Amino acid sequence: MSVNAGDRGVWSSKLGFILAGAGSAVGLGNIWRFPTTTGKYGGAAFVLVYLLSVGLICLAVMLAELSLGRNVQRNPVGVYKGLAPGTPWKWLGILGVITGWGISSFYSVIAGWTLGYIYKTASGQFTGQSPEGIAQIFNSFVSNPVLVIACHAIFMFITMLILFGGVKSGIEKWSKILMPLLIVILILVVARALTLPGAEKGLEFYLKPDFSKFSGEGVVAAMGQAFFSLSLGMGTMITYGSYLSKKDNLVSSAVWVASLDTTIAIMAGFAIMPAIYAFDLDPTSGPGLIFVVLPNVFNAIPGGALFGTGFFVLLAIAAVTSLISIVEVPAAYFIDEMRMPRKKAVMIAGVGAFIAGIPAAVSLQFLGLMDTIFGQYSLIIGSLGVAVFVGWKWGISKINAELQEGNPNFSGQKIYGFFIRFVTPIAVTALLVCRILFPDAFN
Ligand code: TRP
Repeated sequence: MSVNAGDRGVWSSKLGFILAGAGSAVGLGNIWRFPTTTGKYGGAAFVLVYLLSVGLICLAVMLAELSLGRNVQRNPVGVYKGLAPGTPWKWLGILGVITGWGISSFYSVIAGWTLGYIYKTASGQFTGQSPEGIAQIFNSFVSNPVLVIACHAIFMFITMLILFGGVKSGIEKWSKILMPLLIVILILVVARALTLPGAEKGLEFYLKPDFSKFSGEGVVAAMGQAFFSLSLGMGTMITYGSYLSKKDNLVSSAVWVASLDTTIAIMAGFAIMPAIYAFDLDPTSGPGLIFVVLPNVFNAIPGGALFGTGFFVLLAIAAVTSLISIVEVPAAYFIDEMRMPRKKAVMIAGVGAFIAGIPAAVSLQFLGLMDTIFGQYSLIIGSLGVAVFVGWKWGISKINAELQEGNPNFSGQKIYGFFIRFVTPIAVTALLVCRILFPDAFN
């Protein structure tokens, strides 16, 4: 299998990978979805289960995906074809490529809203508006198909421009610029939120577990959120792992990415929870939380237009470094399996996702449906598949050898084997069963 090496590529350094991997993981999932789900499921108790999920279930899957990618140096389909030729395992890779299309389609629509909101906040459209007026602006914005599709198109176009540059001078270069910028803006927003009068109530909700508001549904939601947030289950980390050098330490790279992602999600909670309570708003208001509730918050703050613009710039940055990692999966599939040049592969993946996103752009209901199918079910099935493949088919001694490349002292074979063979598959199966038995828990 000879692939045009110039069209694949490698990260220039371990730091380059860590920033790109964290760029993928940190996205709308952290800054919009994490605080809203935390609000819905009782605050601190949800956060606790989320942290346990990341540590006990997701980290093992992330190591599995990175090892598979680096071992075969291919996209997800190429990985399963390479390690289990002639078996149906390749369908797990194909599911990932299709999921990449599905997620990128609606993700780009929401990301497009952030562009519209950068303009709206910067041009002072919310200034002096009543809460009803602000809700009205949101509703008329999302029900203006021309505007929403235009924003979706612009966002997808930016994503494609970055991906044209390839691994090193596209994904890695932009992640290195954008990730530190994101962290700086987030620190500013958190500092402002924490100093709002009345912030304490939000902090208490966020930090003091109240298990009376918590249920089995919350556990399931926390696990699902962890997969989405860490970009697991569709082959993003397989693909990013395929650009890693054999010299790099996979264990510490994965721990870095997971820690950065978790830190930023927790920080986003600090930015949003106190603000919601300081202004006596509803933490359970769902997709509208950021777009409907926060402009009220910014309005009530001196210099709010600037603060609000900064916030939506932050959201757009987080979204673009994630979206590139989603579109990169089908693109890498075309480059490796169809031998396409990178530009053509990115064009097909990006334009395809743009077209697939049009129904989500015109219907919030359809957007929610895409999120449920691709952002939930597909990822859960995909993560289960990866764990079973690595634990039972590829085998613990093979992944152990891969983990020892660049980390010869790695001695966690037994414990890792236990997690990837038993803990993850059992927990994920339980999640899947609950997901089917209690669908209402996910709305
Ligand atoms: N993790 C990103 C976020 O939190 C989204 C994302 C990027 C993703 N790549 C993924 C989600 C792969 C699932 C699978 O916004």
